[in-house]
Amino acid sequence: IGQLAGRSLLHLLDFTPQEIEGLLDLAARVKKERIDGRRPQRFQGMTLAMIFEKRSTRTRCAFETAFGEEGGHPVFLSTSDIQLGGKETVEDTARVLGRMFDGIQFRGFSQRTVEILAEYSGKPVFNGLTDDFHPTQALADIMTLREAFGTTAGRTLTYIGDGRNNVAASLIIICAKLGIECRIISPGELQPPADLLDTVRSFAAAGTHVSSDPADAAGSDAVYTDVWVSMGEESQQQQRTALLQPYQVNASLMQLAGPDCIFLHCLPAVVGQEVTKEVFEGSTSRIWDQAENRKHTIKAVMLATMADPE
Ligand code: CP
Ligand code: NVA
Repeated sequence: IGQLAGRSLLHLLDFTPQEIEGLLDLAARVKKERIDGRRPQRFQGMTLAMIFEKRSTRTRCAFETAFGEEGGHPVFLSTSDIQLGGKETVEDTARVLGRMFDGIQFRGFSQRTVEILAEYSGKPVFNGLTDDFHPTQALADIMTLREAFGTTAGRTLTYIGDGRNNVAASLIIICAKLGIECRIISPGELQPPADLLDTVRSFAAAGTHVSSDPADAAGSDAVYTDVWVSMGEESQQQQRTALLQPYQVNASLMQLAGPDCIFLHCLPAVVGQEVTKEVFEGSTSRIWDQAENRKHTIKAVMLATMADPE
């Protein structure tokens, strides 16, 4: 994956299946290094700007620990502290950060912001979640699927709930790239945008199926859900709860999905809403592995783009 040097990760549409598989192989390698107690220092002397417009536990901690433990210096910048589109344009902030840092992580609202940061900083920029996409999450999700089943091509991942959010979009893309059958089960109003479906169907090795019937989860290798109300959508709480109630992941849905089906959730979760406590805490749940894998996949992305993975 030498060809990834200097690249940004804004969304996964830009990456080939081989590049994605290469990142997942590297993530498995760095995970094993840690388990074996090795502590390479591949980010020594490097700095990473980490801009957050929205809150984060996993993404912030994954970037910060992955970069810091290998000798890099991550700098946390919340938008209540820095000028970003406030007193200074995003373009100008990007040019300044590009002169000072080796890379930039951005979590926030607009996908356009992360694109401008990449365009104007001239450094690798990593999308740590926008309204539209959550690409580093999707890498960790597929790493978790690999660990559970050995292989991923030909597997079936069912995402049930809000099919229009960032997590759903990135799952649709990564599954299409890697030949994983992706089923999106959502009420009509919350199904994925047609342009995204057209895009992935133009290159998909496996199908992307959209339906509004929870029974279509039958025969899945993984059932995945996310919160019903994403960050920035708080005003829609009531309406979403009414709309999505039939799409809760509970024991009967998991039973219908199949005996070896695993449960995935990007977290944070509202337990009792999109998933019952029984499933969340149950034996089929792989959510803590999934959260841990955020760190290994994010480290792999930073190594491949900013440093020397060897
Ligand atoms: N899954 C995820 O991105 O978690 P955080 O919002 O805590 O970063
Ligand atoms: N869809 C959620 C994911 C959080 C990691 C949100 O955007 O809030």
